[in-house]
Amino acid sequence: MVSVCDINAKSMKLYAKRAKVGSVYTDFEKMLKEEDIDAVDICTIHDQHKIQTIMAAETGRHILLEKPMACTLQDCRDIVRATEKAGVTFMIALVLRYLPSSQAVLELIQNEELGSIRAVRGDSILKQSIILPHDHWMFDGNRAGGGVLITLSNHIIDLLRYFLGDVKRVSCICKTMNSLFINGAEDFASASLEFKTGAIGNIFSSFSIGRTPWNIKYIIYGESGTIYSNPPPIEKSHQQIGNAVISSRTHDKDGITSKKGEFTPIKPNYKYIVGDDPFANEIILFVDCCQTYKTPISNGKDNLDTMKIIFGLYKSSDSNKAIDLSNL
Ligand SMILES: NC(=O)c1ccc[n+]([C@@H]2O[C@H](COP(=O)([O-])OP(=O)(O)OC[C@H]3O[C@@H](n4cnc5c(N)ncnc54)[C@H](O)[C@@H]3O)[C@@H](O)[C@H]2O)c1
Repeated sequence: MVSVCDINAKSMKLYAKRAKVGSVYTDFEKMLKEEDIDAVDICTIHDQHKIQTIMAAETGRHILLEKPMACTLQDCRDIVRATEKAGVTFMIALVLRYLPSSQAVLELIQNEELGSIRAVRGDSILKQSIILPHDHWMFDGNRAGGGVLITLSNHIIDLLRYFLGDVKRVSCICKTMNSLFINGAEDFASASLEFKTGAIGNIFSSFSIGRTPWNIKYIIYGESGTIYSNPPPIEKSHQQIGNAVISSRTHDKDGITSKKGEFTPIKPNYKYIVGDDPFANEIILFVDCCQTYKTPISNGKDNLDTMKIIFGLYKSSDSNKAIDLSNL
């Protein structure tokens, strides 16, 4: 690590000390001008993502950008155009893709071990008011681009899209029930997805539920089997979304389960990733892509189709209509 930048000098100093980095900045543009940096890892507020990513791309830096890509679909498209024009590696940090369990589930689906996938469900549940200071930007739709859907469910929606492919139609109800959430940031959402394969999806999201048996969970129903993630105990889970997730399956074919209907743990898959820590996997793969010019699996162009789902869900809730994503 070459340099640390945070607009807040206190945070910048704290992190630089922990990371043992001497070169520090409170101005991102100045850092890009002065330092010999190959790549940046942008972990700022959502409303800063567009300007910082385009600035980094235009100075030839590779970019690892935290989700969500940006606060509007047009901003996402502008970012992808700028990074493609600059010819830099551009990866969105969608950490759930880099879990060994996710890699295992993807391979099982691709090998058609569940037959055709008929339906999926995904939950994303946290209570932000006990995790964050109440003036935090994540409560503010103007800074975050929305609420729980864009900030948290982004992960599970992207993961289900990684497993099943693109979505063609969505509908959604978003609600703001806790007054800490302002400027259109929803703290509850219930969404339906129709994938291009014909599978249907059901997404439940909340930033205002404190008592829940899990934070992040998915279930995949195939014609001949089911996979579900098995989240870690709730006390441990919010800091390590999915880190300890073990997936299980049941299957009708002989030899896959000992008893029909029994769920057995799926072996983690390390063909593409190196270890159990999805954040480390993500960063190691990003560096590899920068050095070898490979395209990251969660590249910016791919992520446009996840962001289309997110913005389609907001449009559906605002208009009270189902949204065909090919029109976005
Ligand atoms: N993948 C995950 O599991 C995960 C988890 C949490 C957050 N995130 C994402 O990471 C990003 C940051 O979230 P967070 O929870 O760390 O937020 P945070 O508020 O804790 O940190 C954001 C930091 O960005 C700094 N900042 C804001 N504007 C800046 C600017 N113009 N230049 C330099 N620094 C600036 C702030 O001072 C702050 O220190 C968001 O995109 C969020 O969605 C991802």
